Amino acid sequence: MRKILVTAALPYANGELHIGHLKSTYIPADIYARYHRLKGNYVVFVCGSDQHGTPIEIAAREAGVKVEDYVDYWMKNHAEDFKRMNIEFDIFYKTHSLENIEMTKFFLKKLKENGFLYKKKVLQLYCKHDGMYLADRYVKGECPYCGEQDQYGDHCEACGATYEAWQLKNPKCILCGNKPEIKEEEHYLFKLSAFSEKLKIWIHNNPKFQKSVVKYVYNWLDSLRDWDITRENYWGIEMPFEDVKGKYVYVWFDAPIGYISATIKWAKENNRNWEEFWKNRDAEVIHFIGKDIIYHHYLFWPAMLIGVNDNFNLPSAMPTRGFLLLEGRKFSKSRKWYISIKRATEIFDPDYIRFYLTLITPYSLEDTDFKLEDFKNIVNSGLSDTIGNLIHRTLTFITKYFNSRIPQPGEYDSLDKKMITKLRQTPTIVGKFIEEFRLKTGLEEILGLARETNKYFNTKEPWKYVKKEREKAATTLFITANIVASLSVLLSPYTPKIAERIKKVLNLEKTLQWDESGTFILPPGHAIGKIEIIAPKITDEQIQKLREKLGIRQ
Ligand code: 2FM
Ligand code: ZN
Repeated sequence: MRKILVTAALPYANGELHIGHLKSTYIPADIYARYHRLKGNYVVFVCGSDQHGTPIEIAAREAGVKVEDYVDYWMKNHAEDFKRMNIEFDIFYKTHSLENIEMTKFFLKKLKENGFLYKKKVLQLYCKHDGMYLADRYVKGECPYCGEQDQYGDHCEACGATYEAWQLKNPKCILCGNKPEIKEEEHYLFKLSAFSEKLKIWIHNNPKFQKSVVKYVYNWLDSLRDWDITRENYWGIEMPFEDVKGKYVYVWFDAPIGYISATIKWAKENNRNWEEFWKNRDAEVIHFIGKDIIYHHYLFWPAMLIGVNDNFNLPSAMPTRGFLLLEGRKFSKSRKWYISIKRATEIFDPDYIRFYLTLITPYSLEDTDFKLEDFKNIVNSGLSDTIGNLIHRTLTFITKYFNSRIPQPGEYDSLDKKMITKLRQTPTIVGKFIEEFRLKTGLEEILGLARETNKYFNTKEPWKYVKKEREKAATTLFITANIVASLSVLLSPYTPKIAERIKKVLNLEKTLQWDESGTFILPPGHAIGKIEIIAPKITDEQIQKLREKLGIRQ
């Protein structure tokens, strides 16, 4: 039995989640976790609310609520969204928690002890009017290199240069528009540059990392800059050091530690030991992320884990995926060009969204496009026509001609044997794809099985043998029904509710493991349940509703 800790990037407690988040991170992680549970592995799937940082503090202020209440609100809101989508975490915790504060302080102290935190005087921009230091995003000005106007305090979008906020020409506070002053402050920096060699070796020796991501990361490895993790008047975790009293740690330092603290909380609630996952070498830690946070996960985070030198496991894989576009355009909240999870699940079965997003998402950094018509066509042809139809015709036939009982098969001919081989092999093939994070390919393989079974049914023409040579029809239906049963297992990581519905019409009550899907689950004589439509088609009206919501005119 493998021990696997699966994590999905912690969403900022700041605004609605949309289906783009689902595509890159949460659906892939959930499929992977569900699969391994079915394999009988020991899986813990953790996530939580990422609650610190200036953007959240400002948003709370604008909303006129206390920041604690603000993050609480969004944490609950996100937990509801995940539930709507049947994303089944073992725990959804938070970074503003005792466990996380304690663990973050432990990391800071250890890194300092081990010589990986050092002090440096740095120049900071301070807005007197707002009484606050302006972190990168809170100041705009002209790029010190190319002169482009309206650039943030960390890098220029025109020429790509990175710089310190105080270097901006004509800086302006984004809150009040006033010119900030420059102040000198003592900060702790994390010596990221010291890890360059170790990270190289580690990344190089891990075959599970995606090649395209590794290529990206390699470009950064030779010029790692030390990382200023100190912030003044900040919504975050206080530094545990006397010499910088009243200063805080940057949100990206405590966020990934949130993976550990969520595990700690889960362990407490379930009477387990969190170190089983984080310190035992036989456990695997797998982080699912979107491509915008590669730097943090492939560099900062492992460097922190190595630097504390306290026997922590390093991640064994970090499956990374690209963004979702909507009808060819980037999602944009301000332009209302996005589909929230809440809205999407008000109109559509969550499994349809899981199905479509999985089928359009390769295991790569590529961005993919959510197209309304395509969504309808892919779901209708894959789920309703191919899978739904196979189930429907199989069950109708058994109900009508075999008194609702799985028939006793006769002798197998070569075509029957071919289908049986396919039934036996598919779980291994799909399982291998899932283990390699190739979830789209896995689902395509399942659809292939359903398609081939439909063809088999057509070729066998069992309707010709309901009176004479009944044994022929019986054999076909025995095999077909067992493939349907197998689909209820194979589909369950991908579309868990549809899988349950299949089990229900088959009158299958027992919990099935993944490997059982390669066997005859239904014995002759088994009584099936009442026929129901498993996957009704997406209608034009449903698509129209979404169009209206997005303000697309027909
Ligand atoms: O980019 C984001 O949305 C971050 N909140 C992800 C944090 S992941 C982890 F490191 F906590
Ligand atoms: Zn200001």
